[in-house]
Amino acid sequence: MYYNKEYFRQFAPKIRMSEENLDLLEGFMPRFSPEEAGSIARYLVDPSIPSAEKRERMEKLAEEENGGIYCVLIYMAAAGYTHEKYREKGMPDEVFYNTFNCLPEKMETHKKHFGIWGNVAPTWPISHLNMTLFRIGRLGYAFVPAPHEPLLAGEKVLAAEKEPYVYMHISDNEKLVGCAESIQEARAFFRKFYPEYGDCLYMTNTWLLDPRLGEILPEESNIMQFQKIFNIYDRYDCRPEVLKRVFGAEKENLDAYEPSSSLARAVIAYLKSGKELGRGLGYTKF
Ligand SMILES: CC(C)(COP(=O)(O)OP(=O)(O)OC[C@H]1O[C@@H](n2cnc3c(N)ncnc32)[C@H](O)[C@@H]1OP(=O)(O)O)[C@@H](O)C(=O)NCCC(=O)NCCS
Repeated sequence: MYYNKEYFRQFAPKIRMSEENLDLLEGFMPRFSPEEAGSIARYLVDPSIPSAEKRERMEKLAEEENGGIYCVLIYMAAAGYTHEKYREKGMPDEVFYNTFNCLPEKMETHKKHFGIWGNVAPTWPISHLNMTLFRIGRLGYAFVPAPHEPLLAGEKVLAAEKEPYVYMHISDNEKLVGCAESIQEARAFFRKFYPEYGDCLYMTNTWLLDPRLGEILPEESNIMQFQKIFNIYDRYDCRPEVLKRVFGAEKENLDAYEPSSSLARAVIAYLKSGKELGRGLGYTKF
């Protein structure tokens, strides 16, 4: 029902997918008949099927040549069914389209880092399709339902086993601005549609919260301003993650990189000086 060029053409600009991406996807459409694509798409949004099983199926598809792109084709069609559910709940189209920006986002990141089209996160949109992850403004918000392992900051319990919380995602390829506004909007959205997630803990674990970035970035940079939104309660070394986020992939020889920004140059100099970088964990101040 949604696996057709007409639907793709009207959907793509709303999720900020470029003409170039759309043309590419259309070129791969013959891989699936509308019946086959429709059946996989309906399977992906079926709430009775566990997410792990859905991920496994899409991982297999991603292993095919052009697999990342084949997955995007299916997600484009599956999003149509998710949109029906948004409408049933009276949720704003703006949130729906912003959430599905995850499709072009991960294609563009692949192109940026590897020079060819692909998809750096082939199974990620399963959460978006099943309405457990929403992008609101600049940031993404994923539900962590209870019960879960208690979330601890040292001795302090941030979220006990029975308290649901929200894990925040920072999407790629757009300046890191408007984050405080995004959190306020997200809380308002969840208070209305998922009240248990309106006033709970919002946290994240990302290289952008490593306090050591303060040694190499100016205070007015977006990343350092972003850090101010959080109580950062822990950090750990994770050089591969930082190299992946800055350069796309980890290389053992730091001289093999060609840094193209002040941050990229500073990261190399910092690591060469014998220091380490990694991830920080933080929860929002409001
Ligand atoms: C998050 C992100 C958008 C922040 O970018 P930003 O808004 O430009 O951040 P800042 O203003 O603090 O950047 C300061 C400088 O570092 C550069 N910079 C920031 N992030 C960079 C990155 N990932 N790689 C290389 N350089 C980067 C900026 O271009 C700027 O350089 P300049 O002064 O030479 O212009 C960017 O890092 C990004 O796209 N990262 C990849 C995705 C990611 O990390 N997601 C989080 C997953 S947990």
